[in-house]
Amino acid sequence: MARINENFLKLQAGYLFPEIGRRVSQFVSAHPEADVIRLGIGDVTEPLPQAIVEAMHSAVDDMSVRETFKGYGPEQGYDFLRNAIAENDYQARGVPVTADEIFVSDGSKCDSGNILDIFSSDNKVAVTDPVYPVYVDTNVMAGNTGPADKSGRFEGLVYLPVTAENDFIPSLPDEPVDLIYLCYPNNPTGTVATKETLAGWVDYARKNDAIILFDAAYEAYITNPEIPHSIFEIDGARDVAMEFRSFSKNAGFTGVRCGFTVIPNSLMGSTVGGARKPIRDLWNRRHSTKFNGASYVVQRGAAAAYSVEGKQQIADLVEFYLTNAQLLREGLQAVGINVYGGVNAPYVWLKTPGGQTSWEFFDSLLNRAHLVGTPGSGFGASGEGYFRLSAFNSRANVEDAVKRFQKVVS
Ligand code: MLT
Repeated sequence: MARINENFLKLQAGYLFPEIGRRVSQFVSAHPEADVIRLGIGDVTEPLPQAIVEAMHSAVDDMSVRETFKGYGPEQGYDFLRNAIAENDYQARGVPVTADEIFVSDGSKCDSGNILDIFSSDNKVAVTDPVYPVYVDTNVMAGNTGPADKSGRFEGLVYLPVTAENDFIPSLPDEPVDLIYLCYPNNPTGTVATKETLAGWVDYARKNDAIILFDAAYEAYITNPEIPHSIFEIDGARDVAMEFRSFSKNAGFTGVRCGFTVIPNSLMGSTVGGARKPIRDLWNRRHSTKFNGASYVVQRGAAAAYSVEGKQQIADLVEFYLTNAQLLREGLQAVGINVYGGVNAPYVWLKTPGGQTSWEFFDSLLNRAHLVGTPGSGFGASGEGYFRLSAFNSRANVEDAVKRFQKVVS
């Protein structure tokens, strides 16, 4: 009989968001009349920016004519998109990323999971706690951990708590680690990292020969000009970091699917014998073997995000969701809730009222206010007693949600 990858059996529950979806569906079947507002998963609600829609329509037209039809594209992405990314996201900010260091994909969730293909399973891996569950779950699937303890923490991973007590700034690991996942602006806490904090991580990685896997999927939400948008804004980061980016949260591509990973040519990993090898080459090999490139139509849409009109329309979209975040923050603060994040990020992180556990509060909000959020404990043991609200929704729903929330809490 075919043997399974038993590492999957170590994962206790389903992936967090489908699990929430399952509980909400159960509630809706029992209460079909309930008008449920979903502020759980960070899924965008507003239509694609017009410049992107037009670019995608025109790309479909290209596909309808023999002369401009495209079959397989370059696995790494079309030059028109890789160049636009390098110029606009990096070089315009004084960051010397070049197009050949950019790998376009169907999203940064896939990349941040798939990246483990190119690393050995005996690396020591550090994650913040709470954390985007993909980092932990994919390490479990890859066999990089032992079993979970009662709190859900997996043996072998190094957890770096981020709570109100340390202002959501993780301490550097007190043991050497090889891979470090960082996400800023942070999912789930909505907090950001200063240049000094990131410089501390780069320094740690350089001293310990570690690699930082930096997830910048929410960089478009940074409103404070002092906060770095990319790990590569930090001196020395090109030797110790790679970066994941996404068009999901800025351009509304959660359903369209496009993202990219930046791996500097100078980033090296080591063989067991100590030979240094370029990480970029391994990822290029993996990418071109297991992936046939994001679709031409999607990449044309993504490239339109960098046109003059596209940039303005995206800025408007981001501002719309940030205003939602502000309404949530202020509405919750008005009834005495401790609220974090939501200023440079589309997530508001709050302390559950009355000492409720995260899942108790989830049930209470769902049952009493027909509101869905995400229990903090679903992101890790240190998320217990916290709760996340996503600002991705219509204005009307957010305003209604604030009123419902206030009614339940006050
Ligand atoms: C979230 O809600 O944390 C995100 O939507 C997850 C994701 O982007 O995959």
